[in-house]
Amino acid sequence: MKDRHIVGLGMILATILSYSGQCVANAEVSVARNTTSIKPYSLKITKYLCVGMPYKRTSVPYCKTVLRRNHPAVLNVSVVAPEFLNWIWVKVKLFYKFSSYQPFLIDMEQEACEYVKNRPIIPLADYVYEIMQKTAPELAHPCPHGNKTYNIVWWLEESYTPKSIPAGDYRLDIQFFAHDKVTLFALETYITVRRAGVIASMIEW
Ligand SMILES: *[C@@H]1O[C@H](CO)[C@@H](O)[C@H](O)[C@H]1NC(C)=O
Ligand SMILES: *[C@@H]1O[C@H](CO)[C@@H](O)[C@H](O)[C@H]1NC(C)=O
Ligand SMILES: *[C@@H]1O[C@H](CO)[C@@H](O)[C@H](O)[C@H]1NC(C)=O
Repeated sequence: MKDRHIVGLGMILATILSYSGQCVANAEVSVARNTTSIKPYSLKITKYLCVGMPYKRTSVPYCKTVLRRNHPAVLNVSVVAPEFLNWIWVKVKLFYKFSSYQPFLIDMEQEACEYVKNRPIIPLADYVYEIMQKTAPELAHPCPHGNKTYNIVWWLEESYTPKSIPAGDYRLDIQFFAHDKVTLFALETYITVRRAGVIASMIEW
């Protein structure tokens, strides 16, 4: 199968927002819709880490961070999912590093198949879900999932990240579970946000 390039989308946000159900409605995350606007921060992915392997129901032949000069780091991962999946529990949790990583702003879980099927009306989620359908149809399509190998080449672009976030180090955990709570895939994304002007660190935020 061909690698699919998933560009222009904070898939992190896409995943958060498209699978988050009601949770996101309450989270004060604003998404910059004007992708040409200048942000008061710079965002850098330092690495992607596939964790918790080996998995029982899936396998990960490779999971690599490809660093590129002057461009966001790329995640190049392959996930073999032999079984059909009609129920996928998704957990998304963001951490901000104080002295250790502490939960911050986003902590949510949602069953993805039902959400994609019956899409509750959540403007922010709908907005991002539309982008996801364009850029990551392989992941955004309705269930069943599985019985295939997902070869994903993806990177986070600043275009769809929030307008304003505190400077510092972040870790975003995205986890997928089968009906019996067995992990299908778990990713940690390490992000560094530097202020470029007005955005202060967490302390002053
Ligand atoms: C986006 O923002 C830029 C700079 O503020 C502005 O010039 C441009 O017209 C905006 N685009 C849209 C589609 O609103
Ligand atoms: C991703 O890794 C696979 C396996 O090593 C390789 O064949 C492919 O060219 C890589 N793609 C990118 C974009 O790095
Ligand atoms: C799973 O995928 C394979 C290859 O794409 C296909 O031949 C097979 O029929 C699928 N399994 C089922 C149960 O449909």
